[in-house]
Amino acid sequence: MTILRAVKGMNDLFCPELNIWQKVEKTTAEIFSAYGFQEIRTPILEELSLFVRSVGEETDIVGKEMYVLKDRDEKLLSLRPEGTAGVVRAVIENNKVGLDGEMKSFYIGPMFRRERPQKGRLRQFHQIGAEFLGVSEPTVDVEVIAMLHDLLSALGLQNLRLILNTLGQPEERVDYAKALYDYFVLHADNICSDCQRRLQKNTLRILDCKQPHCIKIAEEAPLIQAFLSEESLSHFDEVQAGLSRLAIPYEVSPRLVRGLDYYNRTVFEMVASLGLGSQNAVAAGGRYDGLVKKLGGRDVPAFGFAAGIERIVLLLAEQVDAAPANLLDVVLIYADSVGKEKAFELLYDLRRKNMKADLDHKGRSVKAQMRRADRLGSKTVIVLGEKEVQEQRGQLKLLSTGETLSVSLLGSAIEEALKIS
Ligand code: HAM
Repeated sequence: MTILRAVKGMNDLFCPELNIWQKVEKTTAEIFSAYGFQEIRTPILEELSLFVRSVGEETDIVGKEMYVLKDRDEKLLSLRPEGTAGVVRAVIENNKVGLDGEMKSFYIGPMFRRERPQKGRLRQFHQIGAEFLGVSEPTVDVEVIAMLHDLLSALGLQNLRLILNTLGQPEERVDYAKALYDYFVLHADNICSDCQRRLQKNTLRILDCKQPHCIKIAEEAPLIQAFLSEESLSHFDEVQAGLSRLAIPYEVSPRLVRGLDYYNRTVFEMVASLGLGSQNAVAAGGRYDGLVKKLGGRDVPAFGFAAGIERIVLLLAEQVDAAPANLLDVVLIYADSVGKEKAFELLYDLRRKNMKADLDHKGRSVKAQMRRADRLGSKTVIVLGEKEVQEQRGQLKLLSTGETLSVSLLGSAIEEALKIS
């Protein structure tokens, strides 16, 4: 029989690696709620047209990487490749922007892109995202970037660089796109086939190409700054001043563009200097003032980002010891059938007191049960036999040192003994 395997680029997750995920998710919820963000959950499956209209038809994501399926009524659906479009659709559909016109949401969940899998790049990956709807002031850009910075610092991530740029407003980009076209058309024979297509359809995206010879040619391309209005330039100045006031280091990269079409003004990436190879963007985002209106809502400005959990976990696994100290507080070991009955009863009591307790169901020898307790990473064991049950006392043994402590066979007494051991 052929062995069934997971779909390429879609990983199974196990502990202890998953313990790092849980820590990342818990820290996210704590920090984001301090900033006033509330969780939102939207469907994984959406109508394909949502992503075509938001992310953009000419982007790699929509053009090459979507998982599309046809519903029975012939409607084209897609697994979500990112979270922003679904959040905006949900907010419009459910009329969720509050009376003051603002909404702060965050999400954690799987996204799907049919990319070529490599280190830090999967086909099912997971994002932590945050979206702040309703405010156009540059202080929001600063606040949201600060929240991401706080999260990554709280997780203990080091060697990250914040890279910023401004893309101005769509109307300001029309002349810039023409200037870029005039430049790249002179190099059309030397850019990759993807960039030749981008040249005709979405010239700005050539700046995002990762092919070394395209990067080289892009180095001499015109910069956007010369095409921007006073308002866009001053918005960007205020973002930079705000970050400096909070002592958040950043670098301006005038050629940073994004792989999704909905952005205007501030865009940014948080990249790792070490540990991720070419897939080094840990998080990315920016302002998308036109998207709510484009998807049928009111004129609501917005700013947000998403961070890749797999990339965060890869970095954390390199930086800290991933294995949690003790997986279990106590394993109950029984020497005979009387001991087994008592152990089962005590186990129930211990667990109701929130202690991580376990026993071996298979009736193996005391020695084998001891080995199992060790393998499971238990802090302590108690051996129970007829004698212990009669006396209602046993020996709590600390596995790291072999030290023992006499305890009464009651959940509360064992709880106390575990605190001091
Ligand atoms: P994005 O740059 O496409 O932006 O993705 C954000 C982050 O998701 C990346 O920086 C990376 O860490 C992670 N990521 C993306 N693709 C993969 C992949 N194939 N495998 C592993 N990790 C990946 C967005 O998705 C926007 N929705 C961000 C945003 C929110 N902008 C405004 N609000």
